[in-house]
Order: sequence, then C-alpha cells, then structure tokens
Amino acid sequence: MSDRKVLVVANWKMHKTPQEGLTFARQLKTKALNLPAVNFILCPSATGLLHIHGEIRESALELGAQNLHFAEQGAFTGEISASMLNACGCKWVIIGHSERRYIFNEPAGDRQRKVPAALNSGLKVILCIGEVKAERDAGATAEVLKAQLANDLGGISRFPTDQLVIAYEPVWAIGSGVVALPAQVEEAHAVVRETIFQLFPSISSKHVSVIYGGSVNIANAAQLIATPGVDGFLIGGASLNIGDFVTIAQNAQTALKAEH
Ligand code: 13P
Repeated sequence: MSDRKVLVVANWKMHKTPQEGLTFARQLKTKALNLPAVNFILCPSATGLLHIHGEIRESALELGAQNLHFAEQGAFTGEISASMLNACGCKWVIIGHSERRYIFNEPAGDRQRKVPAALNSGLKVILCIGEVKAERDAGATAEVLKAQLANDLGGISRFPTDQLVIAYEPVWAIGSGVVALPAQVEEAHAVVRETIFQLFPSISSKHVSVIYGGSVNIANAAQLIATPGVDGFLIGGASLNIGDFVTIAQNAQTALKAEH
C-alpha cells in the first residue's frame, strides 16, 4: 500500500489562546508541505476554531473540535452543536475522550447520540476508547474495548469508512509518560477491527483507521507507526510544541517510507 498515509491529530485540550493556536497553525501550514504522507488534524478549544479555520482553509490541514452536543440547538448552556462546528470550518470532532468520560462523567448514552449527530451533519468522528489501569491489570482490556465500541456506536447502523476513526487511548498512558508497548497496541487495534466487523458485518474493518494515543512523543513515534494496525496518532502534550509535533510527523513519515 504505497499510498498509505498517516493521520496525525493534535488534541490541544484546554491549552492555547486563539492567537497561540493561530501562530502554530501558520507555522504548521508551511512545514506540512514537506510531509505529503501525513494528514494533519488540529483540534483546538472551541474559542480557536474560527481563527484557525481562516488560516488553514486553503491548505491540506484539517480542523476538528474536541466535543459536541447531540442536540441541534436548545437550552443547553455551555454546549456546542454539530452545525455550529460545521459553521466554524470543522471537518472532524473528537467524541468520548477519556477526560470527558472520567473527569466530566459523560453518560454512555450521550455518545450513542453524539456519533449519529456528528455523522448526520457531515462531521467526521474520532471516537476515543481505552481501558483504565485496573482494567488492564485485571486482563479485561479486550472486553472493555468491545463494550465501549458496542455502546458508543450503538446509535448507528452503518458508516462510511472514511468518516469514522477509532482512537485507542489507554487511559493509563495519557499524559503519564508511560506509552503502551507495541505488542499491547497491536493487540488492542486488532480487537477494535474485529469488534467493528462483528458490529457492522457489511463494513470492511480493514478500511477503518485506528490510531493510537497516550504519551506519543518524538522518541516513540517511529516504532509505534511501524506497529501493525496503527494508522496514526492522537497527540496531547507533544502536540503543543510545533517542533515536537512536526518531528513526530516526520518520524512517522520516514518510518512509513521504510516499510515500502
Ligand atoms: P498525551 O499525548 O498528553 O498523553 O495525551 C493523549 C491524549 O489524550 C490525546 O487525546
């Protein structure tokens, strides 16, 4: 597959002012020209979306939001709808990040409604799943991933494979500096594909992109991208620094080329 591309997603979480995001996007736009095998997605806070959209609209960089509400509009103070994100230039939205699940106690039923709300509005979805440390230690990782996928995708009966990306983010690896071992990532990504096939037998799960997140950095990116079943990265901390972020993308592109 010589046309294989790597997906490199920056999840800035609650970092960067609109101006800081804009400066980053401007720099990345230039540097990305040398990285044709990388698809970049920037997910700033909602406050930065419009600014960054204006900067990258003519470029290959794409814009994503970190969350959405499933309703089209209404009395939901503090929430943002799919159509609002579309109007800000978003092509993507992250759903089910572990920080939404565990810090904000997002109800599981919300994700069943968010996924179709996003897809029906034309937004592509990055659905995050992953086990906590106690679940891995108990040998329950596969079971947890299957249950999360079954729940979170429970509101749709099919999807175009280029509209949904699954991000495997073991919660214990997020922001901890402890990256999952390649064998653990390979196994988890295989479980994701197998489960997608079970849930949606008509969909070719090999065409569904599965990306890894959790302490991805300049030192581990090449090995991770060379791991079977890994189509890219969802990056938190290391996406805040333009130098690190671009180096990760470069390392991933180089590792991809070495495969051929
Ligand atoms: P870190 O890269 O900081 O571990 O965060 C990963 C993450 O949560 C991306 O969504």
